[in-house]
Amino acid sequence: MLIFSGSSNRDLSERVASGMNLSLGNLEVVTFPDNENRVRVIDNVLGEDVVVIQSTGISPNLYYMELFLILDSLKRSGAKSITLVVPYLGYQRQDHIFRDGEAVSLDVIIKILESLGISRIISFDFHSIKIPQLFKVPVIHLSALDVFASEINKMEKSDIVLVSPDMGGIARISKLSELTGGLPFISIVKDRDLDTGDIQSAVINGSVKKKAIIVDDVISTGKTLTAASDLLLNNGATQVMVMATHGIFARTASVDLENSNISKITITDSIQIPEKRKFSKLEVLSISSQIVEALRENSH
Ligand code: R5P
Repeated sequence: MLIFSGSSNRDLSERVASGMNLSLGNLEVVTFPDNENRVRVIDNVLGEDVVVIQSTGISPNLYYMELFLILDSLKRSGAKSITLVVPYLGYQRQDHIFRDGEAVSLDVIIKILESLGISRIISFDFHSIKIPQLFKVPVIHLSALDVFASEINKMEKSDIVLVSPDMGGIARISKLSELTGGLPFISIVKDRDLDTGDIQSAVINGSVKKKAIIVDDVISTGKTLTAASDLLLNNGATQVMVMATHGIFARTASVDLENSNISKITITDSIQIPEKRKFSKLEVLSISSQIVEALRENSH
């Protein structure tokens, strides 16, 4: 097996390669003055099972284009199979038509990836549980909930309630409840403006406890979390923590969350966070061992 990494999350790729007792394969990625990329695989991949690790995050267009070229270079160089590890699959929130006339972005991404010859895909905590069935290739859908559960299981649990910041996350917190010995869970019902993405209204569905842990798939602007935290603190919570798989931290999210009334934000290394977007309340847990395990189980 040979493992190649795109440039989006080299730290995670190194951790996975090291867990597999391998070094990362050699790719040459050149960016021309007009920002076009040229990709060349240097190692001999003829007849090999290869793994490509690339996440998206704050620059999905850049990282997807790089990924498409990496996949093409490997296929043209004779790779036997390509296992694609995309810890965070960008464009997945546009997985259907919300309003007439819209593109289904996720469908476009899936069509391109499959046409480039991937054999299977490994990803984490999709926004919707329906996403795996949109692919024709096998999908190994992993979750950071086990990692979060082991953190929660170290805490004093009597005053904890798990909170989904929207109705779409109920399955997620119900699963986390199971993994944490049946912690109670509640949901916030929120309405978004589909043009601006702004949250228009939010109400709590269920009983708040002193310590609220908001669980989400992704943090982008952080507005969902700050609105949910205000609501919980105004309704009986005295401490709000967050556990979310993917930390994009778009725009001023890092500063807004650091200055918010949320006490701690735990994410995973599915997206590499540049130093300038890290903040003191942020804790990053690794999902590399889950990827290593999945690669071992699925190696030929
Ligand atoms: C929404 O349905 C998702 O689960 C997240 O809550 C949302 O995408 C987070 O976005 P933001 O951080 O911009 O509020």
